[in-house]
Amino acid sequence: MTNFLLALVFTVGIVASTNAVAIRFDDVSTPAPTTPKPTLSTAACADLGGIKSHSTGQCFIHVNETKTFIQAELHCESAFKGYLASVHSAFDNLYIADFARELFPTIDQYYIGLTNLESTSYAWQDGTPVDYSDFQYNNYGPQCTTVDMKTANWVKTDCFTPAYFVCTV
Ligand SMILES: *[C@@H]1O[C@H](CO)[C@@H](O)[C@H](O)[C@H]1NC(C)=O
Repeated sequence: MTNFLLALVFTVGIVASTNAVAIRFDDVSTPAPTTPKPTLSTAACADLGGIKSHSTGQCFIHVNETKTFIQAELHCESAFKGYLASVHSAFDNLYIADFARELFPTIDQYYIGLTNLESTSYAWQDGTPVDYSDFQYNNYGPQCTTVDMKTANWVKTDCFTPAYFVCTV
């Protein structure tokens, strides 16, 4: 009986840890990376319609669909094995906004991966440090972040308005 219980506990433990790996959005057990860990070559990034950051090597991919923040994050994970984009410099912020204006002249904003949905402070979905931000206004409560394409300023929004979005791999 004891052996059976031990085996049961062991099996449940394995199933639980397997699930934890599969659900990346909720997975807090993986240590957060301290810098972006880009995996795509410039050519592979271009094949996905993305652009490479010169400083971090991240591949930024604008997605031509509107989704809520959470649906956008899940799309970045399933389509690219990535995250909603983290942005680490004013240069990359403008680079992404310029590229968006060129590709999608008719849209006015897009989500990036900064939110306080999961804790009291703002965090990037890819776990990298918040070492740069470009907010123009301060709102309170649960917020996600969109970028205003006219100014490249960041705007705190509710997380439920469907918007275009940028993934990073
Ligand atoms: C984005 O999608 C719209 C509507 O499906 C399409 O007309 C447009 O050409 C697409 N833009 C790009 C850059 O793919």
